[in-house]
Amino acid sequence: MKPAQKTVQDYIRTIPDFPHEGIMFRDVTTLFANPRGFRMAVDQLLHPYAGADIDVVVGLEARGFILGGAIAHQLGKGFVPIRKKGKLPGRTIEQSYTLEYGEAVVEIHDDAIEAGAKVLVVDDLLATGGTAEAGIKLIEKLGGDVVGCAFVIDLPDLGGRARLEGLGQEVHALCA
Ligand code: PRP
Ligand code: ADE
Repeated sequence: MKPAQKTVQDYIRTIPDFPHEGIMFRDVTTLFANPRGFRMAVDQLLHPYAGADIDVVVGLEARGFILGGAIAHQLGKGFVPIRKKGKLPGRTIEQSYTLEYGEAVVEIHDDAIEAGAKVLVVDDLLATGGTAEAGIKLIEKLGGDVVGCAFVIDLPDLGGRARLEGLGQEVHALCA
């Protein structure tokens, strides 16, 4: 009998106590490093959006850049980064938020999204949803319309999915 094919989840490892004691950190570098795993993750993430009305892909720093860039390329769309404060060179708008292990501020260039643009938001992981909500707020402040939020991992116990769905967002995740 042939061994079962590995799933996306099988390529992700968990590192205990990073970046703080008590956090079980989901490390996707092992997924990205594997050609089959990375292709599977990108293909499965973009599957619901192939042929959908999307104008631009927004990636959340940092691992959302790797996935979002690949998805934008596959969909034939542009890519816009949302970065941690102080990294973008042009004029920005900012949004503060809290996440599983701290507080942060994210920014987007104030001319990066056209009013009415249909936006797909991409990141590696959904925990509390603080990062994604901050990103959605920035996109909406610029007049963009978020049509989907795609993550490799959803940690449902941390409430991110419920939080985003409460905002009327559609969440697509590959594993828990
Ligand atoms: C991680 C992850 C998400 C966010 C999810 O990023 O990549 O962006 O946390 O957490 P939340 O749902 O509770 O907001 P992190 O803030 O560690 O930043 P990094 O990717 O720049 O390392
Ligand atoms: N971001 C927030 N919580 C996380 C976790 N447990 N693993 C990786 N990234 C995270």
